[in-house]
Amino acid sequence: MALYGNTPEEIGCAAGILRGGGLAAFPTETVYGLGADAGNERAVAKIFTAKGRPADHPLIVHLAAVDEIERWARAIPDSAWQLAERFWPGPLTLILKRAPGVLDAVTGGQDTIGLRVPNHPVALALLKAFGGGIAAPSANRFGRVSPTSAAHVIAEFGDALDCVIDGGSCTVGLESTILDLSGEYPRVLRPGAVMPDVLTRILGESLSMGAGDSPRVPGCLASHYAPDTPLRLMAMAHIEAATQSFVNLGQSVAVLSMHPPATNQVGCRWLMMPTSPSLYGQLLYARLREIDTWGSRCVLVELPPANMAWEAVRDRLQRAAGGRQDGRGCA
Ligand code: TXA
Ligand code: MG
Repeated sequence: MALYGNTPEEIGCAAGILRGGGLAAFPTETVYGLGADAGNERAVAKIFTAKGRPADHPLIVHLAAVDEIERWARAIPDSAWQLAERFWPGPLTLILKRAPGVLDAVTGGQDTIGLRVPNHPVALALLKAFGGGIAAPSANRFGRVSPTSAAHVIAEFGDALDCVIDGGSCTVGLESTILDLSGEYPRVLRPGAVMPDVLTRILGESLSMGAGDSPRVPGCLASHYAPDTPLRLMAMAHIEAATQSFVNLGQSVAVLSMHPPATNQVGCRWLMMPTSPSLYGQLLYARLREIDTWGSRCVLVELPPANMAWEAVRDRLQRAAGGRQDGRGCA
């Protein structure tokens, strides 16, 4: 796989790979995407093969600018235009009714499509150089933690891709907020950096949360975004007792916490996390990948505060724990 820098020439090469039906991973402000020409069925099929993702799971199509929406969606409500004008480029994906001619391979056969204009200079330059929509899921194998650097993408895929453009570390670090505007009421399918209270204010109506019964949103599966090391979420007050029980058994344990340890325990590796939700989100996936290289028996993660600012972080941690908030899974 070619590793490109972010010069115009190298971005031009990556656009050429996309035009030729190849796979090019690229940075966005949220996470790295695994891109293919959204208008080329065989190219899109390669994404599913590379990721090991079920074929009926839809992809987000990335656009260079708001005015490209109409090529991909129909019956676009005013609210979609308003939100696109306000948040694009940015970490908000809108689910809309799909336009005629959009490939089933992209939408997983559904009547809707996910669209987003990413807020990253490399992604925007690539989209402009390519001149069309780029279908791109997060550039990780199915069910795994999303990549927030080019090195993570290489670690996931090795030579299975044609190229990855290195645009540094992602500033948001968690996947985009997904807002479904295709139904009767707006619904947040996945929390992200664009928070529901801001969306509510602009939409002038309250939002439903969660994927409902939709089986088509892999990011909403209970065990998504999982690191290799079993992960347990718990209140700070319980962490030291839990580490002690691992240490007593002679097992190594890792901790991800916003507080320092009261005592140093041999066999326990303690990583401090920021107390700001946006900085925490920026670092989380890189930290989980780092911990995976340690071979610890388990990673204990301090539960972040239960408020809206932490919703996206809590959502990813809960999924990384496989829906667990107790000790199961580390035994
Ligand atoms: O931040 C992001 O959204 C990143 C970057 C690369 O843009 N992309 C990303 O893609 O996270 P992916 O495929 O890993 O997650 C996209 C989610 C999936 O859960 C998918 O099921 C959902 O969006 N999705 C896409 N199209 C949809 C649709 N038409 N209806 C419902 N869910 C949809
Ligand atoms: Mg993903």
